[in-house]
Amino acid sequence: MLITSLALQNYRNYQQERCDFCPGINLFLGDNAQGKTNLIEAIYYLSIGKAYRPVKDDQLIYWGRNQFTIRGTLENRQGAAKVEIQYQTDEKKSKTIKLGGLILKKNEDLSGCLTSVLFSPENMSIIKGSPQERRHFLDYDISQISRGYAKNLAVYQRLLFQRNNLLKRLREKKISHPDKNSELELWDSQLVEVGGKIIEKRLQTLGKLNPLTRLMQRKLTLGQENIEIRYLFNRKKEIYHSMNLTELLLEARQEALEEDLRYGTTQWGPHRDDLLITLNGILLKQFGSQGQQRTTVLALKLAELEFFRGESGEYPILLLDDVMSELDENRRQQLLELIQEKSIQCFITATDKSGLEKMEKRQMKFFEVRQGKIISREIQGEVKE
Ligand SMILES: Nc1ncnc2c1ncn2[C@@H]1O[C@H](COP(=O)(O)OP(=O)(O)OP(=O)(O)O)[C@@H](O)[C@H]1O
Ligand SMILES: [Mg+2]
Repeated sequence: MLITSLALQNYRNYQQERCDFCPGINLFLGDNAQGKTNLIEAIYYLSIGKAYRPVKDDQLIYWGRNQFTIRGTLENRQGAAKVEIQYQTDEKKSKTIKLGGLILKKNEDLSGCLTSVLFSPENMSIIKGSPQERRHFLDYDISQISRGYAKNLAVYQRLLFQRNNLLKRLREKKISHPDKNSELELWDSQLVEVGGKIIEKRLQTLGKLNPLTRLMQRKLTLGQENIEIRYLFNRKKEIYHSMNLTELLLEARQEALEEDLRYGTTQWGPHRDDLLITLNGILLKQFGSQGQQRTTVLALKLAELEFFRGESGEYPILLLDDVMSELDENRRQQLLELIQEKSIQCFITATDKSGLEKMEKRQMKFFEVRQGKIISREIQGEVKE
């Protein structure tokens, strides 16, 4: 998949900018606070139809204006298409997404046109952050390739919200425990069914991601580091694909019933699970160095490239924001080798060129980003893409 051009209007610190990309490696160089991350963020927005970071669309509008527009030309196996996303705050806040000139009803209808893998320093939260951050990582990625999964997640959230409301009402009611149980049972059979599907898909995905991540980590570290990702049910019990998930969920429901009724929240289900990431057998979150943690996130992202290709038959685009810092020379070199091996379109931001000139195996286009302007500098390499 490719994005061949991008035009921004009133997006973050860009008033009116347009640029053409090469199908190889696109390198954005500039000092701090010039707009490099904003540019990566705009490309990502175009691919998933919404902002990635927990930001509101309002924050993305150039200060003092009332709308932003992102336009891009995408290419995939089906051909080329123009995508336009406009958000405005005039009378009513509204977002319009157009694909090939036609207005799309939902964000999700855009999915699959341009899949992308993003590495940003914020992704370190996959390692350092709460269990929620790790679940988000899996959920976001599975949603990009499976509309069914995204739908199940939405249904599950709704059921969970309703169950928690019911728990709070039951807490106040003066009825017997068995009566409370039978009122809950109606929701719970649905919750167990959808929850089971979500966990099953996560386990399935992890089964594919795990060996790929291990491979990438070994490549990046020249065989020194072995990574292992395990799925923790209820944050404590390691589970596998072969297990009976319905039984597991029903058991957990029974065990937590009293607490659920006491606290008015649901203490079991896929919204309580976690991933356990170990490096050479040691818990990465607690004992990994900064560089090891960053390498692991990178390995996960590189594994996703292969995973997406396996699922859709095409490589996604790769967005690497500020990836070079904290990696030693060896790891940088390995990363650049890995990027060059694959025929993926790649976008890299950095404050300077050092170390990046050596990628002569792929075509490279240099851009300078300065105060919300993108200046196309030079194209390097004759390689036909
Ligand atoms: N809605 C907005 N309107 C105008 N400017 C904005 C808006 N949101 C952010 N900015 C500004 O955009 C500038 C560039 O931000 P960006 O994060 O893209 O920088 P960067 O080039 O990635 O820098 P660094 O190298 O430090 O990561 C910031 O100074 C920020 O204040
Ligand atoms: Mg930045």
